[in-house]
Amino acid sequence: MPDMLVKLYELPDHRELIRNLADQGIVIRRISAHERRHLLRFANDEFQPAWADECNAAFSNTPVSCFIAVENEQIIGFACYDVTRKGYFGPTGVADTARGKGVGKALLLAALWALWHEGYAYGIIGGVGPADFYARACNATEIPGSSPGIYANRITSELDPPANN
Ligand SMILES: CC(C)(COP(=O)(O)OP(=O)(O)OC[C@H]1O[C@@H](n2cnc3c(N)ncnc32)[C@H](O)[C@@H]1OP(=O)(O)O)[C@@H](O)C(=O)NCCC(=O)NCCS
Repeated sequence: MPDMLVKLYELPDHRELIRNLADQGIVIRRISAHERRHLLRFANDEFQPAWADECNAAFSNTPVSCFIAVENEQIIGFACYDVTRKGYFGPTGVADTARGKGVGKALLLAALWALWHEGYAYGIIGGVGPADFYARACNATEIPGSSPGIYANRITSELDPPANN
C-alpha cells in the first residue's frame, strides 16, 4: 500500500459539489469536539479500530482536523488530516449505503483544502487503498518506494479484527 502525493496548489474547486450534496440533505463540515464519541464509534464499527484511534488524534489539533458528512443527524462519512503524520490525509471512509454520491470526494477535497490553508504545498495520502479514486479526484500520484513506508513494523494482536473495508 504505497503513499500518494497531491499538489495542493492545483486542487480542484469543490464548492459546487458541497452545494449539490447540501441540496440532497448531506452536509460536509468540520466535526466539533462534543461529537467525538459519535465519530469514534462510526470509524470503529464501520471500518477498523486503528482508524478510530487515528480519528481520536484529530481532536488533539485545533481546529479539529477531521471533516464529516452528516445526513439525517447521523455521520455517514469522515476524512481526517494531520493525524497519521503531519501533512498526511486519512483515514477516510463513507458508509456502504452512502457511497457513489460524491461524499468521499467532497470529504477528500475539504480536508486537502484545509491542508492548503494551513500552509502545506503538498499533501500525502497515506497507505492508499483505492488509488484510482485519488488519481481522479485530486490528481494524486504514487510515491515510488513508499510501501510499507511509515507502516512498517506494525503491532498486531486480537485487538485488530479483520478489516471491514
Ligand atoms: C473510497 C471511498 C471513500 C469513496 O467514497 P464515495 O463516496 O463512494 O466516492 P465518490 O462517490 O465521492 O466518488 C468520486 C469519484 O471516484 C470514483 N470512485 C469511488 N470509489 C472508487 C474506487 N474505490 N476506485 C476508483 N474510483 C472510485 C467514483 O466513481 C467517482 O467518479 P466520478 O467523479 O468520475 O463520478 C469509499 O468507497 C470508502 O469508504 N471505501 C472504504 C474505505 C477506504 O477504502 N478508504 C480509503 C483508504 S486509503
